[in-house]
Amino acid sequence: MKDKILSILRGAEGFVSGQELCEQLNVSRTAVWKAIGRLKEEGYKIQAVRNKGYSLDGIPDLLTEQEINEKLETKWAARTIESYDRLTSTNVRARELGEAGGVHGLLVTADLQTAGKGRFGRSWVNDSGTNIAMSLLLRPEISPSSASMLTLAAALSVVAGIKEETGVETGIKWPNDIVADGRKVCGILTEMSSDMDGIRYVVVGIGINVNNREFPEELNHSAISLYRLAGRVFYRGSLAASVMKWFEYYYEIFMKTQNLTGLMNEYNEKLVNVNRGVRVHGLKESYTGIALGINKEGELLVETDDGKVKKVSSGEVSVRGIYEYI
Ligand code: BTN
Repeated sequence: MKDKILSILRGAEGFVSGQELCEQLNVSRTAVWKAIGRLKEEGYKIQAVRNKGYSLDGIPDLLTEQEINEKLETKWAARTIESYDRLTSTNVRARELGEAGGVHGLLVTADLQTAGKGRFGRSWVNDSGTNIAMSLLLRPEISPSSASMLTLAAALSVVAGIKEETGVETGIKWPNDIVADGRKVCGILTEMSSDMDGIRYVVVGIGINVNNREFPEELNHSAISLYRLAGRVFYRGSLAASVMKWFEYYYEIFMKTQNLTGLMNEYNEKLVNVNRGVRVHGLKESYTGIALGINKEGELLVETDDGKVKKVSSGEVSVRGIYEYI
């Protein structure tokens, strides 16, 4: 009911009378009044004026189903949303839903994660009210060996969504860190469940630093937020919706060939590692070279000091700049 009142107020120009709300929703005045109270508690600025009714004067920055839906222009991505104030990890919840038969395109969001997961078993920290933590459940009919390429498609969609919503230009540090000003704005963690018949589901988890004013000392040199880059705050719901729109776009291109043939050029244009020295830390070996770009399998081509070109696949290795993060 609260959500219905919100969408009526959103669609109205000026005031909507209490009477009108009661009639449209077939509820009592007290019920309307209570729902308005709850919306105010959530941060919506609602003016109540005797003989005129209610008007919506301000919208809070919330990463909720309502706020994402308001801007969502997709066919299937995020058409079902579960949003939480607090969760251990959106990837963990999306995996549970993957096991329980959740639909392709289901999105889980959290304002605060208490045990956010990063790549290589690291943790991912996010505060309440500032970041985007979201995980998309996918059921692609592709070979398990192609699933890691979805991460690269997700990286492109974050770059495009950020550009569209905030105007900020970001780049990609292979395979899937979104960076600006030499620091990380977004990390992506893709997890897969497969069996003998192939992929059961894939979860693409996206964490974006949106409105962080500052970072803990130890992250200052490697993390940055869109607020720090642009000097203003952004609506997380709109940004999440835009990333979902772009994800759907890039996913559909990817699915035509089930590799990165259609996305490789665009990805290489955004790749900040190109022509830079990189150190590849593998399980068995570690070496340096110059990054040349990705191929259609999403592997990073690295020219080593002896002139040979090695193909680096994501998952097994971490790639860093020789002297710094990029
Ligand atoms: C990395 O760069 O190491 C990947 C970080 C991925 C973080 C996101 S936040 C939403 C989703 N839920 C998680 O627990 N992790 C991912």
